[in-house]
Amino acid sequence: MIDFEPSDEQKQIQTLARAFAREHVLPHAAQWDREASYPEGVVAAAAELGLLNVGIPQSVGGLGLGMLDEIVVAEELAYACMGFYTILMASDLGLTPIVLAGTEEQQRRFLTPLTTGARLAAFALSEPDNGSDASGLRTRARFEDGEVVLDGTKMWISNGEAASVLVLFATVDPAAGHKGTVAVVVEGGTPGLRAVPIHGKLGQRASPTAELVLEGVRVPKENVLGEVGDGFKIAMRTLDRTRVPVAAGSVGVAQRALDEAVSYASTRQAFGGPITRFQAIQFKLADMKIGLETARWMTYRAAWLIDRGLPHTEASAIAKCYASDVAFRAAEEALHVHGGYGYVDEFPVGKLMRDVKLNQIYEGTNEIQRVVIARSVMR
Ligand code: CAA
Repeated sequence: MIDFEPSDEQKQIQTLARAFAREHVLPHAAQWDREASYPEGVVAAAAELGLLNVGIPQSVGGLGLGMLDEIVVAEELAYACMGFYTILMASDLGLTPIVLAGTEEQQRRFLTPLTTGARLAAFALSEPDNGSDASGLRTRARFEDGEVVLDGTKMWISNGEAASVLVLFATVDPAAGHKGTVAVVVEGGTPGLRAVPIHGKLGQRASPTAELVLEGVRVPKENVLGEVGDGFKIAMRTLDRTRVPVAAGSVGVAQRALDEAVSYASTRQAFGGPITRFQAIQFKLADMKIGLETARWMTYRAAWLIDRGLPHTEASAIAKCYASDVAFRAAEEALHVHGGYGYVDEFPVGKLMRDVKLNQIYEGTNEIQRVVIARSVMR
């Protein structure tokens, strides 16, 4: 009934992703962080290897990987650099509404082009004054002459400036709450759409984040996913899936934090020997391992539910919330094990902590995950 063994194919995917991440991502992560530079060439190499946009269905030319396959890749890439992984993850987030709610024609039009080259997607839900309350959108959509006209501002959009396909959420009537919301596909470069890069991020600096200004952006009404009124639910169904890769990325960071802590503590000498002799250090390593293993299996379970088409809203919220909390704590403890060396960028643990803080915030803060979980248990 229960099988903890990855399939041969998953083991191959893991080997491939690990080799790529250790060779092409990990050695450059500190520099991307320092310079806040977008690693265009390495994203292209990841695309070439089939690690980008892995959720596109085979029916429209994609690899159609399952969620269990996807999270194996997620863990390996995030181990090397959470910011790099967010570029790829945010693209899958951006294309998921089209997978879930797009017609076959829409999928061919918007997803098939994403299967070649290093083309990215983005998901534009949050606004400057509206994040957690996702049904209270202020970006306006109006229908005119067979087109949708969009006006407003979107905020904190990962891949916002680099994406060739964006799914934007707007409202036809703010007074109607979620029943007025609409999901619209907009192609990068559409007149009236302007991306303003956001600088000064605490972490995940390899991942480009933008504010999107929409001034009279016009797209055919055929770019609407589902019906008017479906936008909020499409966003929720999307996040129910994509919170699992956030959890997997967090597991990758937690594993890296543990490995870095073990490596440093094994060589650091104090009071006549390596500091691994002290239980004060051993207990930290043990607690990190407990968190890591429990987060990993919780993440696998949520992915397993998704792959079987079973209800997963609660499981994905638990995995995202728990794994990102575990990972932040693991990174903080790894930093502490390094003492003063953890506080400078000669060692990677400070970056792990700065990077993974975002996992507790994006794709729904961990407070929102607790709201989702509490509503589920009370139902
Ligand atoms: N799936 C399908 N339908 C859902 C749903 C789900 N998971 N959750 C709610 N719904 C439905 C409800 O059944 C209800 O439908 P009816 O009116 O037909 O009965 C409707 O949607 C409204 O539901 P609620 O009343 O529960 O909605 P709410 O306003 O109370 O909001 C919330 C619920 C959980 C707080 C939600 O707003 C939420 O998840 N907010 C967080 C938003 C978020 O995660 N933003 C992240 C942005 S993306 C990002 O960060 C990415 C990045 O850059 C990398």
